[in-house]
Amino acid sequence: MLAIIGGTGLTQLANLDVSRRQVVRTPYGEPSGPLIFGAIRGVPVVFLARHGTGHTIAPHQVNYRANLWALKEEGAGDIVSVVSVGGIRADLGPGRIVVPHQIVDYTWGRMHTFFEDEAPVKHIDFTEPYTDELRKKLLAAAKACGEAAVDGAVYAATQGPRLETAAEIDRLERDGADIVGMTGMPEAILAREIELGYAAIAVVVNHAAGRGTSVRGVPLQEIEEVLKDAVGRVRRIIEALVAKAAA
Ligand code: HPA
Repeated sequence: MLAIIGGTGLTQLANLDVSRRQVVRTPYGEPSGPLIFGAIRGVPVVFLARHGTGHTIAPHQVNYRANLWALKEEGAGDIVSVVSVGGIRADLGPGRIVVPHQIVDYTWGRMHTFFEDEAPVKHIDFTEPYTDELRKKLLAAAKACGEAAVDGAVYAATQGPRLETAAEIDRLERDGADIVGMTGMPEAILAREIELGYAAIAVVVNHAAGRGTSVRGVPLQEIEEVLKDAVGRVRRIIEALVAKAAA
């Protein structure tokens, strides 16, 4: 079953025909909210709002382990993670939709592994942090519904909840990052650890600090407007992805 983790601006999936809501408890505590089960075009899908239904959970406080564990436990095989990001690369301005292919992790202090107190110590391969097959399906879905999606970007995961300084963005760019967000990690690693397929749809909601329209500060008041428009496009891509799965 396909699972969608919705980020800022996507606390519910309007095109999801909801059948039930389920509170799931896990060995790692409680997920961000109930899992929402339903169908899109008759295909079963489960949805989880990463920041809670009322958007009350900050990026560093999300119980990523509980979220992924609960989704796996309830039958998810692939996860499509919707994230909002700042654009660092000049062509990735507000409104762009990006399917990233790489990650640089700057987060700290988050519960970032299921492998604790285990002997022998387990290592997993993370050369390609996103599931390529799922990425390709997302890009094909975007194409099928006529929505532009950029193929490939390096996602820098920062700790938040504050935005970055201009100098930090310069540093991330030197490190090779194209977009910056706060929730991509440890989500991706945890998905890999429990063998879930994982790919992201990143919505650029602002130029990163010190860039473009954010030269003198990130215009936070404009983010909502960008999101409102982009969320419809994200929904269409997800619908096309599901339609392909059903075909
Ligand atoms: N930085 C980090 N996370 C973000 C940003 C940003 O500029 N925009 C949306 N999420």
